[in-house]
Order: sequence, then structure tokens, then C-alpha cells
Amino acid sequence: MNLEQRTYLLVTGASRGIGRELAEQLARQLLPTGSVVVLLGRSEPLLQETKASILADRPKLDVHSCSLELATASAKDFGRIFDKTLPVNGCNEFERAIVVHNAGTLGDTSQHARELADTKILEQYYHINLFSALALNSEFMRVFAGIPKLVVNLSTLAALEPFSSMAYYCTVKAAREMYFRVLALEEPSTETLVLNYAPGVIDTQMTLQVQRESHDPALAAAFKEQRESKTMLTPQQTVSKFLQVLRAQKFKSGDHVDYRD
Ligand SMILES: NC(=O)c1ccc[n+]([C@@H]2O[C@H](COP(=O)([O-])OP(=O)(O)OC[C@H]3O[C@@H](n4cnc5c(N)ncnc54)[C@H](OP(=O)(O)O)[C@@H]3O)[C@@H](O)[C@H]2O)c1
Repeated sequence: MNLEQRTYLLVTGASRGIGRELAEQLARQLLPTGSVVVLLGRSEPLLQETKASILADRPKLDVHSCSLELATASAKDFGRIFDKTLPVNGCNEFERAIVVHNAGTLGDTSQHARELADTKILEQYYHINLFSALALNSEFMRVFAGIPKLVVNLSTLAALEPFSSMAYYCTVKAAREMYFRVLALEEPSTETLVLNYAPGVIDTQMTLQVQRESHDPALAAAFKEQRESKTMLTPQQTVSKFLQVLRAQKFKSGDHVDYRD
């Protein structure tokens, strides 16, 4: 895949962790003139940091930061973001549009699967991690109809295998990955390419939360050991691999590709 094209790129969870690194490394690949980069997250100051770091490298890029709470976000909110960030001539001048569904939360890892009784909390968790991604993706598909599209979902081994203390996370990630597989099946033309990328285990706030809060001491200790022995990956390492995966493009639309593959 040649990434050096006039591109509309939107990354959710671009304020820190893997999402920030994805936004920075992807932005560096794009044709600077005519490309648009949109960074989503809640923390405006952190989004501004990502934006500044992208512009330091690629001053000609048109970079937007949009603070948005995914726990309540609707298709209308995403529609407004597209309206605000698309050029006056609309999307026809782009050679490709990319959306990276990266934002994600772990849920309460102190709870056992037998304890998930509060549907209000479940609804909020599912809204952040699943409903928002589906609404954003549907708006993205509508707005960029007719334009070559790359749709990336940040997946995980936990979408395929159960992990103790991760009932919230495993269920939502499995559902999210299945949505993107159905999307790939329903959009077989080369216009839409879908990738479920599992980044490995990365040293971010998410894995720190497992070490602090998991009710499973073995899991918390395993993560801690990886971090202390520096065998846990960095965002830079996994995003470099992600770019290799894209460039080589050996995957089929909808595939699950893991860092460790
Ligand atoms: N770390 C790992 O080992 C690992 C492994 C496999 C898969 N993944 C996946 O990779 C993705 C990124 O993980 P990470 O480790 O980089 O996590 P992270 O450091 O915790 O970052 C999560 C990102 O999501 C955003 N976010 C969280 N809640 C939000 C909300 N309610 N509304 C809007 N944005 C929200 C955060 O931004 P704000 O706080 O500014 O809103 C932040 O930018 C996730 O989908 C995760 O499941 C991670």
C-alpha cells in the first residue's frame, strides 16, 4: 500500500498511548499538501500536544483536534466533525480516507464476570467502546462513499481468548471485531479495506491499570514482570510494525493481524 497520497485521516484516542503514536507515524507518511488529519479524544491539551508534534514534522498538513466524550457520542456528533474538517469541495479531492478506531477502555478489572449486574455501567462502557465506533464508522462510510477507504480497528488477543478479570474488555472487543468482519464481508469491493490489528502488549495507561487493579494477581504480576524486564512493547514498536503490515498488505479485508504474527 502506498500511503503517500492525499488522505483524510481520523484517529480516535489520539491524545496518548498507541493512538497518539499511530496519528504521528501515519501523518508522517501522507502527502502533506491536501491531506487532513483529525485527532479525537477528550483531553484537548493532550490532543494539542499530538497536533504540535505532527505539525513540527509536517507543517503543511491540515491538522484538527476535536474533543469528544465517546460515552455519549452520536452519529450527529461525528457528522458535525466531518462537516467541520472537510474542505469546501467535500471529500472528492482525497485519494484515500482512513479511520482508525483506536480509543478504548479496559472496564472494571476488579470485578469478576459473575458480578456484572449494573446495566447502566455496562451501557456506558459499551457506548464508549462499541456503539461510538459503530456510529463513527457508519458516518465515515456514508461521507466517503466512492472514495478508497481504509478502516482500522485496534483489536487484541482478548477479542479471541478469555482473560480472567477482563469480562468487560473481552466481550466488547469480540463484538467490535465481529462488526468489522461483517463490514468487510458486506463491502467486498476494493474500495473498502478493513484491518483488525492487535498491537501486542504495550506499555500504556491501559496496561498500568491491569497491574494496579486486576483481581487476578497472576495477570497483574505477568504484566508487571513484562514492564519491569522491558519486554513489554512500546507504542513506537507496535506502530512501526503496523505500518509494515499496511505496506506489505498481505492481509485480506477483515483479517485479524497480531503484532506477534
Ligand atoms: N495497551 C495494550 O497493551 C493494548 C493491547 C491490545 C489492544 N489495545 C487497544 O489499543 C487501543 C489504545 O490503547 P492504549 O493502550 O493506547 O490506551 P490508553 O493509553 O488508555 O489510551 C486510550 C485512548 O482512548 C481515549 N479515550 C478513553 N476513554 C474515552 C472516552 N470516554 N471518550 C473519548 N476518548 C476516550 C483516551 O483519550 P482521553 O483520555 O483524552 O479521552 C486515549 O487517547 C485500545 O483500543 C486498546 O484496547 C491496547
